[in-house]
Amino acid sequence: MRGKPSTRGPGLCRLRRMSTYRILLTPGDGIGPEVIEESLKVLARVQERFGHEFQYQEEIIGGAGIDKHGVALRPETVAAAKKSDAVLFGAVGGPKWDDPKADVRPEDAILGMRKQLGLFANLRPVRVHPLMLDGSTLKPEVLQGTDMVVIRELTGGLYFGKPKKRWENAQGRQGVDTLRYSEKEIERIVRVGFDLARQRRKKLTSVDKANVLRTGQLWREIATEVGRDYPDVALEHQLVDAAAMNLLRNPSSFDVIVTENMFGDILTDEAAMLAGSMGMMPSASLGRRRKDGTGIGLYEPIHGSAPDIAGQKKANPLAMILSAAMMLRLSLGLEGEAAAIERAVDVALSEGYRTPDIGGAGLRVVDTAAMGTAVAERVEKGE
Ligand code: IPM
Ligand code: MG
Repeated sequence: MRGKPSTRGPGLCRLRRMSTYRILLTPGDGIGPEVIEESLKVLARVQERFGHEFQYQEEIIGGAGIDKHGVALRPETVAAAKKSDAVLFGAVGGPKWDDPKADVRPEDAILGMRKQLGLFANLRPVRVHPLMLDGSTLKPEVLQGTDMVVIRELTGGLYFGKPKKRWENAQGRQGVDTLRYSEKEIERIVRVGFDLARQRRKKLTSVDKANVLRTGQLWREIATEVGRDYPDVALEHQLVDAAAMNLLRNPSSFDVIVTENMFGDILTDEAAMLAGSMGMMPSASLGRRRKDGTGIGLYEPIHGSAPDIAGQKKANPLAMILSAAMMLRLSLGLEGEAAAIERAVDVALSEGYRTPDIGGAGLRVVDTAAMGTAVAERVEKGE
């Protein structure tokens, strides 16, 4: 599907090769639709400046999907995703659908997409922007130089292992979740870590709980074995509790971290706070890659649907906009275009544009739409 020149009649549009890409939009709930709208504003400028055509299809998912269709994720939506080059995913969830005992939950949408599209590798970059050093609860001197990517395994472990159930017997209510990993699942995610470390500062931290868990021992064993194929990458192992501590104590010591699903969920929320706000943190969830490194992916901000600020024009669209940049790079193979968005975000920040979550004295605190416009205009100007 990707990179096809448009099929115009002979003689037309000879001057410019227009590439067409199919993108599925799933705005979801809360601030999801608000931030998706701003990413589309930015992508529109990318289309104009670089001469691409993005064809969008939109699907209703999450809580909105439950209201409309009775389920958070319809098979039709998964089928549409499979036919697309990438999925731009907003956020799901809200108090309206919060009953933990309900049969259908908004989160089914994101978990189902990950599993059914085979998106096993979740990349969450954490970079502390030099201008935002004061925005975190940590001391600037601790944060200085922080630039890491956390790779979280996304389709295995406790989230999906069977048995997974609740029941009741004479001893009372019971529940079980299963932490299970196969050699193949560990090997493929650890390789994603080594490959990425190789393109960066060549350090990989594999995080496990090998002192207690059998899956942790297997994880460590396989990471070590795979490491023999990457003699140029320094591999270290950390127990997850120590890693949680080191993220706060010395965040700039990390380059690439690779870990299992649940540990990755917890550590990435922690790591996001290094950057001051969840509103700044993009993510990519990737499946198998083509030879050129591209392939289907789902791109979403790591923040949730934030129902407390939904509809108030306060949401920070940068995480969604930066997720769109990751989409251009990792699913569409448009590196220059991705970098143009990232640069535009940096320029807008350096000019003082801030949404309320990252605002402060002397800065231009603006609403969601104004932040999106500020970035879009800077993409257009090629700043
Ligand atoms: C995340 C979220 C999800 C997860 C929820 C919404 C199911 O916390 O993407 O980190 O636990 O994976
Ligand atoms: Mg999470």
